[in-house]
Amino acid sequence: MDDAAATAVGRDYKRRLLQLLDVRAGHSVVDLGCGPGTDLGALVTASGADGNVIGVDRDLGMLAEAGRRHPGVRLQEGNLTALPLADGSVDRARVDRVLQHVDSPDQAVNEAARILKTGGLLAAAEPDWDTLAVADEDLETSRGFARYSAGRVRNPALGRDLVRLCTTAGLTVRSVEAIAVLFRDFGTADRILGLTRNSERAIADGELSPTYGKAWLRRLEAGPVVAGFTLYLVVAAKPARGGET
Ligand SMILES: C[S@@+](CC[C@H](N)C(=O)[O-])C[C@H]1O[C@@H](n2cnc3c(N)ncnc32)[C@H](O)[C@@H]1O
Repeated sequence: MDDAAATAVGRDYKRRLLQLLDVRAGHSVVDLGCGPGTDLGALVTASGADGNVIGVDRDLGMLAEAGRRHPGVRLQEGNLTALPLADGSVDRARVDRVLQHVDSPDQAVNEAARILKTGGLLAAAEPDWDTLAVADEDLETSRGFARYSAGRVRNPALGRDLVRLCTTAGLTVRSVEAIAVLFRDFGTADRILGLTRNSERAIADGELSPTYGKAWLRRLEAGPVVAGFTLYLVVAAKPARGGET
């Protein structure tokens, strides 16, 4: 998680998501699936001394790390599908690469809509793993790797589905952006995309040929590397009952 945030593209999209979230001084802000607290500091800064930042995660180890890094932030154990927060209690909510893992993303977005105040904003960043592309002369192995990797994620095409999920939850979509997340060095691509890990698993599972799969990885190790996927950033507002935001 920290690895993803530490890449140049990771820093860029997180900065953009924060800008889109438009946190003001005094706001109550929740990071849904906050992980080790990577983004909590920026939310504390943006909401100021009168603001209130909450991190929610289902993983106690993640919450412990977030608490160590941000002692003043309220941290709540909870599932995104049943948030431990009151109706209409937050001005802003962010969810960053979490809905892809949730067993019911529809319910999770409904819950985000429930806890937002009228006029409040939800900003979401989620990948579309069906767009994963690794450049290599062996296109079939690249495609096999991408198919296998996408198949290991619970909701691999969540990014493209965000607009539908927000609309179904009664939110008004304000903006949709698609960012090409691109890696040009083997080390970063390997850490974030699991080139070694997933190709070895795919070979072990009989999804990639050992001969072609190993040769593919050797070529990537030698470079050049061009590997990436599309990340969607969607912002949606909670309308008043009449529909105005
Ligand atoms: C890829 S990490 C992203 C963490 C953080 N949002 C970030 O950008 O660094 C996914 C996080 O979501 C949490 N998570 C996954 N499913 C969840 C659920 N149903 N309810 C609450 N947290 C969940 C995991 O425990 C993990 O900390």
